[in-house]
Amino acid sequence: MLNGKKILLVISGGIAAYKSLELIRLIRKNGGDVKCILTQGGAQFVTPLSVASLSENPVYTDLWSLKDETEMGHIRLSRDCDLIIIAPTSANMMAKMAHGMAGDLASTTLLASNKPIMVFPAMNPQMWENAATQDNIKTLAARGIKIISPATGDMACGEVGKGRLPEATEMLESLITHFQNNKPLAGLRAIVTSGPTFEPIDPVRFVGNRSSGKQGHAIARALSDMGASVTLVSGPTSLKDPDDIKTIRVETTAQMLEFCQKSLPADIAVCAAAVADWAPEQYASSKIKKGNDDKLSLSFTQNPDILKTLSTPSSSRPALVVGFAAETEHLLDNAKAKLTKKGCDWVVANLVSADNPAFNVDENQVYFVTSKTVEEWPKSSKDDIARQLVERIAKHFANKAFKIAAE
Ligand code: PMT
Repeated sequence: MLNGKKILLVISGGIAAYKSLELIRLIRKNGGDVKCILTQGGAQFVTPLSVASLSENPVYTDLWSLKDETEMGHIRLSRDCDLIIIAPTSANMMAKMAHGMAGDLASTTLLASNKPIMVFPAMNPQMWENAATQDNIKTLAARGIKIISPATGDMACGEVGKGRLPEATEMLESLITHFQNNKPLAGLRAIVTSGPTFEPIDPVRFVGNRSSGKQGHAIARALSDMGASVTLVSGPTSLKDPDDIKTIRVETTAQMLEFCQKSLPADIAVCAAAVADWAPEQYASSKIKKGNDDKLSLSFTQNPDILKTLSTPSSSRPALVVGFAAETEHLLDNAKAKLTKKGCDWVVANLVSADNPAFNVDENQVYFVTSKTVEEWPKSSKDDIARQLVERIAKHFANKAFKIAAE
């Protein structure tokens, strides 16, 4: 139910911190990945070893840890997730958040984050009722932070009232609900191309490239996670078809174009495939044999351009068409030229180099290019690039809907 979702769990100080251990177990059992920040207070109640063992990830405790900062960095920690939760959230932690303080790893990460944040306050009932705490809650809620009210009952301190951390199963339910409701692309249809295309020379040989489909498949999953109804048109890859996504497997560029066109109408098209620009002019129906000649000449014809075809103005043009550009030199000039020549709306450009192979690796460094702007995105996993791109897509459609509503 949390398939592949990345959760950053901040455990702050409070007797209820023991429930966060069970929460970690449940998140993982439900298919989520969880990284944890343990505050100094949190570490008084649960140990880094138990948190690391259950999460099967390193535990982050110190803003000034050279090792953690080199390997992950608090900024990356704050971005490399789909949701941040704080369980338990102490009164102190809420006060720090409300006042933008950044004196330790948890508060700095929260201040640096651009991700949704959900807090599970837990404290003594008097502390909860205190005007200072209530003001902080109002401030945080007004900033879009989701506050899950504490439960009422017996407290560890012997008092009775509101302030108990919900049980781990209830916290898990809040997470699942968050992901179920967070579907800004619901009702929109998307086509994604992924992987290479193979152009056959004879029954056993083909012209192809090194694309693995990792990037395109990640984009299809991210679009589907945000509620879009996705058709993935994939060239030959060893990846398994993503769950719950209509996947059409093709081999050649002509087939990829055919199935993209058959999948219209769509609102969004993302062409991440590394499409063969050329196909052998002649297909030999039996295996080409070595002859006396030590050379073989093949002539090629140009393949149709799928991105350009989908971008051409027509009644069935998707409202947003995104292309990729893989270049070995003059990356940005070539990417801008592709934007114009192919008529798409955005281009995600990657330089293919020894430092950044782009093809068949898990990480990539890309630029996001529009007719007005160029943004350099830091090197990150293809899943993160997919999520970032799809967040842009969601924002684009939200702005469009707002403009229409305001007209
Ligand atoms: O699959 P991975 O191993 O994860 O690698 C990801 C990737 C490197 C393949 C991906 O990030 C990427 O750059 N994809 C586009 C590769 C490419 O073919 O770029 P291009 O510059 O040659 O083509 C520009 C755009 O036109 C692309 O959107 C391409 O899909 C599209 N195109 C190209 C030729 C053609 N005949 N039809 C097309 O639609």
